[in-house]
Amino acid sequence: MFTIPTHIDTDSTEYLENKMHYDDILDKHREFMHRVMEGGPVRAIEKHRSRGKLLARERIDLLIDPGTPFLELSTLAAFGQYDDSFPAAGIITGIGVIHGHEVVIIANDATVKGGTYVKETIRKHIRAQEIAMQNGLPCVYMVDSGGVFLPEQAEVFPDRDDFGRIFFNQAKLSAQGCPQIAIVMGSCTAGGAYIPAMSDETIIVKNQGTIFIGGPPLVKAATGEIVTPEELGGAEVHTTKSGVADHFAENDQHAVSLCRGIFESIQPTEKQQLDKKPVEEPLYDPMELPGILQADQKKQTDPYEVIARLADGSRFHEFKARYATTLVTGFARMMGYPVGIIANNGVLFAESSLKGTHFIQLCNFRKIPIVFLQNITGFMVGKSYENAGLARDGAKLVHAVANASIPKITIITGGSYGAGNYAMEGRAFDPHFLFMWPGARISVMGGQQAANVLAQIKIDQLKAIGLNANPKEIESMKAEILQKYETESSAYYSSSRLWDDGIIEPMQTRQVVALAIATSLNKKYGPPRSGVYRM
Ligand code: COA
Repeated sequence: MFTIPTHIDTDSTEYLENKMHYDDILDKHREFMHRVMEGGPVRAIEKHRSRGKLLARERIDLLIDPGTPFLELSTLAAFGQYDDSFPAAGIITGIGVIHGHEVVIIANDATVKGGTYVKETIRKHIRAQEIAMQNGLPCVYMVDSGGVFLPEQAEVFPDRDDFGRIFFNQAKLSAQGCPQIAIVMGSCTAGGAYIPAMSDETIIVKNQGTIFIGGPPLVKAATGEIVTPEELGGAEVHTTKSGVADHFAENDQHAVSLCRGIFESIQPTEKQQLDKKPVEEPLYDPMELPGILQADQKKQTDPYEVIARLADGSRFHEFKARYATTLVTGFARMMGYPVGIIANNGVLFAESSLKGTHFIQLCNFRKIPIVFLQNITGFMVGKSYENAGLARDGAKLVHAVANASIPKITIITGGSYGAGNYAMEGRAFDPHFLFMWPGARISVMGGQQAANVLAQIKIDQLKAIGLNANPKEIESMKAEILQKYETESSAYYSSSRLWDDGIIEPMQTRQVVALAIATSLNKKYGPPRSGVYRM
């Protein structure tokens, strides 16, 4: 492998202007993250603590092996929605290590509207289970929730991927050999009662945990029976009479230590082997990335400069360096793990698709995970390209990304538009993980292009009936569309709706990719396969 040469002058005006622009984005990002990670309102936190309970993040800290990282997912779910009354969508999800096992952890935050579920809470919960399924991981559910957020029931209850899917996934995961462990640390009402009941093993905390299909008010209304929550479904009842729970815990700390004890006896699964080398820092400082990412998105960010700050030793073994240069492909290492990198360097052409397809095949056969660095406006359009079979060759790349049998990790570093999103392993193609950088954007096309397309359609429609478009009306229509795209294409709009697994700082990328790859090793990579390529 060769060391990538850098052409960056950290004293240049361009570098300093880019850096100033991105530093501003990062400042805002850190402020948003800080705000969200504080959880619910102060009064709810005080009430929670006064009951002797730990906060959701404290519970997770205690559960994972000391000194190990927690790869938190979708921290900004529901951000900017519901008047920001659902920080992190009221649930913390991520991957942590318990007694050496990588485990998906799903913890309700009861300080956020009683830990109830809105649409984004459910999507986040289900996404964490999907990650467990794709990577063969156990799950720990730290339950403390009032169930469905009742005013939003139509958004959370009836559909396939709504609340019920959580229990379906538990059954499937358990059958797949992924241990399902619940710790009931608070309320667990109605459908929520199925989380502990569907688990392989369940712990419940004295005087805090309750499990019932119908709570005391419902029981009274339905049958007239008057009963306390403890009598109906507390820790004593469920560990001595009903058998719904298996272990009785004195408090949160005791429950967490019981859960750790369960993992002590779970046998390790046979892992996928990868040739991991000692970690080497990049030759060029990742802290320079904010000065390298172009503030003006119309300018192309140099992918080699980005790779040079992500790869171990800044070394890269490029594949087809001289061919289809708008797509950069090659092998590198990140935190010691071998990776194939596919990065955009301009629009995609038919030959870029062929190059990408070939490279994915190499990674498939060599069992090397792929990191997609997405910064793509789309495919080259025009008569000569279409006539030469752009869609045919583009489809080969789309086939290859869809069927790749090795882990795929997508990082949206800049723009992610249109069919380019698909070809570069967008969300629809089931990447093992998809993260965005804070300045990244995602939409079907750029706002300006969408405004122009819609304006042109309007002008043509009017012309067809013998009328002329009013230039003022056309301009105001364009401005409206531009504003809508500006809002809806931001990384925050995306992350709020779970279109990604979270927003990460460019400088954290190496560590996040390494955690993602370590996670993926829990399930052996499948044999190479592909569908029918249109020739
Ligand atoms: N739907 C909508 N909002 C709910 C809710 C639900 N299911 N459960 C709780 N909330 C809201 C409360 O209105 C309150 O909102 P606020 O902060 O704006 O005042 C907040 O969550 C906290 O509730 P509170 O009752 O003050 O907290 P608590 O810690 O004392 O109790 C619960 C939490 C979850 C045990 C209790 O609220 C409860 O029993 N909720 C109903 C559970 C239920 O029947 N769910 C069935 C749904 S399928």
